[in-house]
Amino acid sequence: MSKQTLGLTPALADYVRATSLREPDILRQLRQETADLPMAAMQISPEQGQLMALLVQLIGARKTLEVGVFTGYSSLAVALVLPPEGQILACDVSEDYTAIARRYWAMAGVENKIQLYLAPATETLAHFIDTGHQNTVDFAFIDADKQGYDTYYEQALQLVRPGGLIAIDNVLWSGRVADTSVQDNRTQHIRDLNQKIHQDQRVDISLVPMADGLDSDDEEATLGIQIRGRELPADPHIGPQRRQVHGALYSLVEPEPVIAEVTPFGSNCWATTSTPCRSAEEAAAKYRPGHAPTW
Ligand SMILES: C[S@@+](CC[C@H](N)C(=O)[O-])C[C@H]1O[C@@H](n2cnc3c(N)ncnc32)[C@H](O)[C@@H]1O
Repeated sequence: MSKQTLGLTPALADYVRATSLREPDILRQLRQETADLPMAAMQISPEQGQLMALLVQLIGARKTLEVGVFTGYSSLAVALVLPPEGQILACDVSEDYTAIARRYWAMAGVENKIQLYLAPATETLAHFIDTGHQNTVDFAFIDADKQGYDTYYEQALQLVRPGGLIAIDNVLWSGRVADTSVQDNRTQHIRDLNQKIHQDQRVDISLVPMADGLDSDDEEATLGIQIRGRELPADPHIGPQRRQVHGALYSLVEPEPVIAEVTPFGSNCWATTSTPCRSAEEAAAKYRPGHAPTW
């Protein structure tokens, strides 16, 4: 078993898409229409949309957040798998791009699941925090201006519930993060955030090097996933990167809640239990008095 992530040749990328992509027609149509726009490279790849839809289903998400809608591919991919009462809080600043998104949401019959907020996302997220959405979001996707990422990440941490997911796009920035000759602001913002998240004990993480191997521009399709408060089981037979992905997915599909809030680092910190706890009582018994769990 390989302990290193394989680079995708164009032939292998073709193969992956041919043998794994199940793209609904409406998403394919949206991708084709967006391809004619000058900023088409901003759209996520269909493989990434499929992964996000899978993650959303795995965690049984009902309420999701999106920062950066563009023409609506990622929001539509998520909306299609949300239950009928599901809800997406969607943030963008562009009337023009999101007019296309709205049209496709309506064509797909999911427009009632999506509330679009047209304003700088820091303001919209602050409004959500102030109006009772804290700890209520199951899944958040951050894919907007790179200078805002750190703020969006901090705001998303307040909005996403323990055990929920935050997915961040562009974390490898087409490889520029690892190229020391690149020193522009946006690249540095992404580097700084990556480093911060690596050390951030509030989250479990997996950096998924998923790139769109079919589009010739091969732009920016890399996803970082933060999982709040989940245990990653150790497996000595696989490399550390894969172990994180496997562990994260494993803990997501656990049928019962396996985490408790504990506060060893002060209030508002979330930590995994060292072994899964399946009830508040069990978790309470494991942790020091005064650090009682809540669910
Ligand atoms: C990379 S695109 C999003 C792609 C989209 N997720 C998809 O699947 O097609 C980034 C979007 O972020 C929006 N944006 C840029 N700055 C923003 C800000 N300060 N607040 C909210 N949205 C912003 C842009 O208008 C653009 O539509």
